[in-house]
Amino acid sequence: MNGSEQDAARRRHAAAAADALEVRRVAVQLGGAAVLDDVSLTAHGGEIVALLGPSGCGKTTLLRVIAGLQPHAGDVLWQGRSLAAVPAHGRGFGLVFQDQALFPHLDVERNVAFGLRMQPRTQHRNAAERRRRVAELLELVGLSGFSRRPVDALSGGEAQRVALARALAPHPRLLMLDEPLAGLDRPLREQLLVDLPRILRRLRQTALFVTHDLEEALAVSDRVAVMRAGRIVQVGTPRAVHERPANAFVARFLGRAAAPGPPPRAPPTTPGPRSSGPASSAAPTSCTGRCVPPAAGTRACWRPRLACYPTICPPRPANAAPS
Ligand SMILES: Nc1ncnc2c1ncn2[C@@H]1O[C@H](COP(=O)(O)OP(=O)(O)O)[C@@H](O)[C@H]1O
Ligand SMILES: [Mg+2]
Repeated sequence: MNGSEQDAARRRHAAAAADALEVRRVAVQLGGAAVLDDVSLTAHGGEIVALLGPSGCGKTTLLRVIAGLQPHAGDVLWQGRSLAAVPAHGRGFGLVFQDQALFPHLDVERNVAFGLRMQPRTQHRNAAERRRRVAELLELVGLSGFSRRPVDALSGGEAQRVALARALAPHPRLLMLDEPLAGLDRPLREQLLVDLPRILRRLRQTALFVTHDLEEALAVSDRVAVMRAGRIVQVGTPRAVHERPANAFVARFLGRAAAPGPPPRAPPTTPGPRSSGPASSAAPTSCTGRCVPPAAGTRACWRPRLACYPTICPPRPANAAPS
């Protein structure tokens, strides 16, 4: 191997070993205020990372930074390479928002195909290839047969699936979902809480999932990054964050988010790494034993709200009957 081949091999090895996404010490000031402050985060290839935090803590701003839409200090890297000089349209990242922003004058097929036409470098250059890719995506999101449906004849859940299909169609390197389930009513939301991670895992899709809802973060992600006031205050697996909140804020936030409707609780007075104060006791602490396996490798509990999570519940004993 000559010198340049060795260099190329080293670069390939470094790229494979590197995190897919790295956010390095990002800061954003808006209107004289620090909206993001020294934010660092990684996502490995195929990993789903949830950004969890209350409204206004900077989640959408962080997505905009990663997408290349927001000027910032610090750096965003993809497989070890800075994206500083790469404009938004060159990054190959997909976005899904709460309000799906589907094109009302286009049917389902043409909405999903839109992203393909906008990406000249994809392999879906001609109409037949685009139709094949759209059909593949609609099947993936459970909407086969909806191609000709006008988008104003879709339910909220169906529209969100179309938005997901549209974002996935051009094979994004990273998919960013900003509160994608926030506008849906409970049954649709609970169905998508099971279907969404199943779809993303099947594609080995690297994804950032933004939510202010603990339940969603725990159900969907491989790791959770908890944000507060422009900073990331804890990163860990759903189980680790759930069982060992890093500080009083995280414990309180988990407790509030997990409580089904009552007013916010007072913060625990002596928070600790394994606090069993009010916040932790409000959160589900164990599997209810009423999980159903909706598909191989996924689990969800349907009563009366999600009370255990695919990512933290222990496996159900083989002889336990589903409820
Ligand atoms: N263009 C702007 N000018 C000034 N402040 C802004 C602007 N955009 C967002 N902000 C502020 O930045 C903070 C974070 O906003 P955002 O990232 O949308 O939060 P989140 O998505 O977590 O709800 C909020 O306090 C918001 O008011
Ligand atoms: Mg937001």
